[in-house]
Amino acid sequence: MSKLQKGEFVGSLDCGTTSTRFIIFDKHAEIVAQHQIEFPQYYPEPGWHEHDAVEIQESCDTCITEACNALEAGGWSKDSVKVIGITNQRETTVVWSRKTGKPLCRAIVWDDSRTKNQVVHYELMLQNKGIELEGGAVKKGAEGVKALRELTGLPLSTYFSAIKLRWMYDHNEAVRKAYEEDDLLFGTIESWLAYNLLGGVEKGIHITEVTNASRTLFMDIKTLKWSDQLLKFFGFPKRSILPKIVSSSEVVGEVAYGPLKGVPLGGLVGDQQGALVGNKCLKQGEAKCTYGTGAFLLFCTGEDIVESEHGLLSTVAYQPGPNAKPVYALEGSIAVAGSAVKWLRDSMYMISSAAEVNTLASQVPNTGGVYFVTAFSGLLAPYWDPGAAGLLIGISAYTTPCHIARATIEANAFQTRAVIESMKIDSKADLKHLKVDGGMTNGDICMEILADIGGFRVIRPHMRESTALGSALLAGSAIRLHGWDITRPETLAEVNTRGNTEFEPKLAEGERQRRWGGWQKAVERSKGWEE
Ligand code: G3P
Repeated sequence: MSKLQKGEFVGSLDCGTTSTRFIIFDKHAEIVAQHQIEFPQYYPEPGWHEHDAVEIQESCDTCITEACNALEAGGWSKDSVKVIGITNQRETTVVWSRKTGKPLCRAIVWDDSRTKNQVVHYELMLQNKGIELEGGAVKKGAEGVKALRELTGLPLSTYFSAIKLRWMYDHNEAVRKAYEEDDLLFGTIESWLAYNLLGGVEKGIHITEVTNASRTLFMDIKTLKWSDQLLKFFGFPKRSILPKIVSSSEVVGEVAYGPLKGVPLGGLVGDQQGALVGNKCLKQGEAKCTYGTGAFLLFCTGEDIVESEHGLLSTVAYQPGPNAKPVYALEGSIAVAGSAVKWLRDSMYMISSAAEVNTLASQVPNTGGVYFVTAFSGLLAPYWDPGAAGLLIGISAYTTPCHIARATIEANAFQTRAVIESMKIDSKADLKHLKVDGGMTNGDICMEILADIGGFRVIRPHMRESTALGSALLAGSAIRLHGWDITRPETLAEVNTRGNTEFEPKLAEGERQRRWGGWQKAVERSKGWEE
């Protein structure tokens, strides 16, 4: 066998909602090797969505091994991987045993809406009993809602981890027992993966990263520390269940096994924040939207926390090092994007591949009056209605699968526009263009529809693995690989320079507004549905 070359690469483990991939990048963000696999999804009841945390971890191990094999098959030694990062689906809640290192139950996924009643319970608690703040002041009613928002950047919603953890504690005997016996470890997916990669139960390294922690409803978004007030409010006074919060870019340990044994883990970041970094939207005023399972629009607000009055979240965008000041973002989270296309394929059998949605949609000039409110588990930003129901409206004998395919694509565009309208008011800034990535952006028709409905220019990069690239940049930056320093964007000038494709709006303004009006009416009909 010929001698393998030595390079200087960074690996990124991107663990999304439906698949895991490990991508190895060179200094220009060219992909040298990669491997991707889907893992099982569990939907035990309507609105429920679960993952098996062990299956996720095994999928990660396989991806790392196979990508390293591909690297060597391409003539590169696996020692070329100098550092790795992790980026992950956020909010998904895992609980495992301190003693055995094994999960105590299936993970509850971010878009699971079983906790609707818990949300109502905490809403009533805010109204009647209120939340006690540091220093003892109690805030109730509208003031309580505002106080929770100021502390966490988040509204009460089925989306966030604290409420999912509460459900587990209230409904699962093993979880309750582990909590009482001080055996319970709580974490989001990056926390679980880091725990395992860094040595599992033997080492017991229990950490979480700050952008992920900012989605739990347990962290004070200003101090970046767990808040005793929040823990008390959600009924988990024991701090021992919580991981240590680390920054997005620092070496937290070395991989304990497998082909990358000994390689430092230098960066962890939530996947949407990862895509913001990967798109190099590092400064105030820059925005991106990633169209994966859901769609997530993040608008960088720099060192300021902008509080939304219009249904957006304030979130940590990244923290470039353990003692560095964090950068914040406003986020509009849309629960259903690619998952609606998956539904057309796997449940409706309307298409045989995800890409076919584009073929169908491009056969008609419009939806023929059909609107599809894809509220499969309620609506997130900017509507926040857990009771909203999925709705197809405007169907007639004229409607064909082509119209429904087009309406599915339009649903993303309308929801993106709704988020942007809110963002413009909250940030008092206009948005002239939007950077995009994620599976759904492969179809030109999706991008044309987005530009038409949104009324702004859409910029799609040539290399669209922005999420993985973000964690690679944060991990590389932690060891100054290639001189990268996430706080100095000029050091990233050579990264991902392959260019963009731009899509300009072409639809007449009157028609754009007419259709926007139709969407708003459809959303009103979908809200608050009770069978
Ligand atoms: O907040 C949930 C988000 O992180 C999921 O991302 O890419 O798996 O849809 P994705």
